[in-house]
Amino acid sequence: MFDWLDVRAGAREKAGLRRRLVPRSADPEVLDLAGNDYLGLARDPRVVAAAEAAARRWGAGSTGSRLVTGTVDAHAELERDLADFCGVESALVFSSGYLANLGTLSALGGPGTLMVADEYDHASLIDGLRLSRSDRLRVAHRDVTAVAAALRDRSRRRALVVTDSVFSVDGDLAPLAELAAVCREHAAGLVIDDAHGLGVLGPGGRGGPAAAGIAGRPDVVVTATLSKSLGSQGGVVLGPARVVRHLVETARSFIFDTGLAPASVGAAAEALAVLRREPELADRVRASARSLAERLRAAGLDAAEPAGAVVSVRAPSAAEAVGWAARCAEAGVAVGCFRPPSVPDHVSRLRLTARSDLTARELDRVAAVLVAAAPARAARPIAT
Ligand SMILES: Cc1ncc(COP(=O)(O)O)c(C=O)c1O
Repeated sequence: MFDWLDVRAGAREKAGLRRRLVPRSADPEVLDLAGNDYLGLARDPRVVAAAEAAARRWGAGSTGSRLVTGTVDAHAELERDLADFCGVESALVFSSGYLANLGTLSALGGPGTLMVADEYDHASLIDGLRLSRSDRLRVAHRDVTAVAAALRDRSRRRALVVTDSVFSVDGDLAPLAELAAVCREHAAGLVIDDAHGLGVLGPGGRGGPAAAGIAGRPDVVVTATLSKSLGSQGGVVLGPARVVRHLVETARSFIFDTGLAPASVGAAAEALAVLRREPELADRVRASARSLAERLRAAGLDAAEPAGAVVSVRAPSAAEAVGWAARCAEAGVAVGCFRPPSVPDHVSRLRLTARSDLTARELDRVAAVLVAAAPARAARPIAT
């Protein structure tokens, strides 16, 4: 019955697309530019202590769905804190960012709704679109004119525009203010996945919508993860109170899922408190990403300009990207490797994530390792 799986695995191996699980060491000797711990809070003693305290108080697991026994005071407090921090009416914590996206899009969409999505949107948004059974239209990357045309010409009364704030592939920014204006003009909602923006963009890390001046708008809904800049686990939806009420009562990935574990709630709450006290963390991670990209470009590599923490470097092929990342790891620098199907344009990339605690010396080392490990064809095409 499962012989076909081996055939598929062989084909993936041949195309350089094999994926392996590699356990991370508890005491890593490598410099980590592969994880998403943008503010270095995942192992911050204050955050770890808060996780421990929450587990001691409420137990290791949340014991049930949020609507049954899975909500403790800490969930409600975290939701109030996140809403206040991001400048929105209300927030709802999910057990992951992936499930927050599935729940939001499936509950807000449906037959009779048009959803317009950027072709580079994260897989969790795309899965949410599919699950919602809405009419779907993928538009070219960052193309506001195409979004406006789709909204103007629609036959459906209800419409949602769905976009990442910072795109995970190239680390570039969506035109959020322009999209919000187009949505308003055409009476559509805007759903923004701010997974890479929360804690990184905007004043004190208040996120992509705050940076674009559209936080708290009645027609904007934001989703995010607690697993990147906040160093924990879990997801959140931020927006108007009536949207949150609708999600509580209808979002299947909220209702039929065990609530986020108390330790993760405690960790995220403390990470948010740290970020409030140290707003400069957000500026630092952005500066660190920009300076890394500059170093890589100066060395002739094809590094995109980062809007947040993600620095993306194009590789000539999937196999060369894998080899490049492996040589970096051998030289003590862990970097991510994006290959099809994780890249919508089929261009493989190394993906480096800056952190607010990287020193100039570490950035120099990362750049030197990347250049030394680069495949011959990795140099940036010289514009003529
Ligand atoms: C843009 C984006 N959205 C959603 C998610 C999913 O969040 P989580 O890991 O909390 O499920 C991720 C990454 O993990 C992401 O990069």
